Amino acid sequence: MKITKICCIGAGYVGGPTMAVIAQKCPDIKVTVVDLNEARIAAWNDEDTNNIPIYEPGLSDVVAEARGRNLFFSTEIEKAIDEAEMIFISVNTPTKTYGSGKGMAADLKYIELCARQIARVSKSNKIVVEKSTLPVRTAEAIKNILDNTGNGVRFQILSNPEFLAEGTAVQDLLNPDRILIGGDTTEEGQRAINALVDVYANWVDRARILTTNLWSSELSKLTANAFLAQRVSSINALSELCEKTGADVSEVAKAIGMDSRIGPKFLKASVGFGGSCFQKDILNLVYIAKAYGLNEVADYWEQVIIMNDHQKRRFSHKIVTTLYNTVSGKKIAFLGWAFKKDTNDTRESAAIYVADDLINEQAELHVFDPKVEEGQILSDLNYLDSRTPEENRQQVTVAENPYEACKDAHAIAVLTEWDEFRDYDWKKIYDNMMKPAFVFDGRNILDAKKLTEIGFVYKGIGS
Ligand code: NAD
Ligand code: UDX
Repeated sequence: MKITKICCIGAGYVGGPTMAVIAQKCPDIKVTVVDLNEARIAAWNDEDTNNIPIYEPGLSDVVAEARGRNLFFSTEIEKAIDEAEMIFISVNTPTKTYGSGKGMAADLKYIELCARQIARVSKSNKIVVEKSTLPVRTAEAIKNILDNTGNGVRFQILSNPEFLAEGTAVQDLLNPDRILIGGDTTEEGQRAINALVDVYANWVDRARILTTNLWSSELSKLTANAFLAQRVSSINALSELCEKTGADVSEVAKAIGMDSRIGPKFLKASVGFGGSCFQKDILNLVYIAKAYGLNEVADYWEQVIIMNDHQKRRFSHKIVTTLYNTVSGKKIAFLGWAFKKDTNDTRESAAIYVADDLINEQAELHVFDPKVEEGQILSDLNYLDSRTPEENRQQVTVAENPYEACKDAHAIAVLTEWDEFRDYDWKKIYDNMMKPAFVFDGRNILDAKKLTEIGFVYKGIGS
């Protein structure tokens, strides 16, 4: 079966870039990305592709090439479902905030809404692809909804989890380590798998396209994120031990990472991992394990989150204790708010939690991030509900540039590893700060020696 029309429900961080690359690489396939959010779709359609709603290096060029040719963004969801042979579901699957499983399980209401809408609208057979990250065995529920329409339309369900990382999404999509496709082991299931394999084979070597059963595919996605996050928590746990013993966590990471069995990646100690995926997916894994009565398995993975929360709190605590046990009324400059460099995404960013702690201590925060806007920063803090929006606004100022953020500050905290932070005029920053001038480098990106020579009191993570 050759696919000629694809619909993707959800024009977010995954749906947008993924479909843009499919459209770029498969000019014969019409790709329509739909979303309920009209403002988001309007931004994807902005004449100037620099204004698309997601900042990812290289993405605006991909969109510029394919949009209007075979890539379309629309709010006409039903029309796009109706005409597609293959429908990707790429909607959000956040942690539940209510009811049973609150704070742990994935909230699947958006997924179910999509499945019901597909069931209602479809008049011809379709392949439905789970692109969102889902708990193992979700396909069963989707299948149940789709198989009970009574109108004779047949559906095949595939799991095709996305492994892109934000900030490198386009590169990850163009050169993926692997593409994972899970499907039914029946003949029809295999035909559906092959149809999707053929789409990716337009630019990905077939040897890198892995096919499995549905449940292996669903579980592999949660597992991959859990393993990655676990490495960050492991090195962060050691960073605290390094600070007590005189070992340097960067040296330890290098020494263990050169063991080819361990490998060098994902061993950078930090103020704590953020992003929309790691915490949510591990909590989900913990929830599933508990649901099967596997309490030791659940406890093992939950520790990754406990360690990460500790690391964030430890960072804010260190700022307070170093500043003579009080930051009340003191100006603290934040460099970075995004959860990592090269993205405007702030979901679960460590910066939010560190800021919340410091505001509790009555610090005055001045934030600069190259890509995050004031409204987002305030809304992230308001979402925590620790105090009123007016109180947050009083304690937080968003600066136009880093020099303004750091002027007259008692301390600087680096929360995101943006490359440009290294190249600032640190002497100028120092001259305009209160003395002693402290730098808390939550990403270990600055040149500690140089800063110390200028006169800063430099505190990194894990040394
Ligand atoms: P997102 O919130 O950026 O985008 C989801 C979009 O879906 C939103 O624009 C929302 O309006 C839309 N939507 C929700 N319900 C809808 C409906 N019924 N009809 C039409 N549109 C609807 O989320 P995201 O970051 O793109 O994540 C999507 C999924 O991909 C999640 O399951 C996530 O776990 C997974 N994932 C995310 C990443 C990442 O880096 N962000 C990486 C891999 C996997
Ligand atoms: C992650 C997975 O990498 C990706 O495969 C999946 O599809 C989605 O979740 P993402 O969250 O976009 O991607 O970014 P990632 O590069 O994994 O970083 C996550 C967090 O861990 C960031 O806050 C980052 O700063 C932090 N991190 C990462 C560290 O603190 N140290 C490291 O060594 C690596």
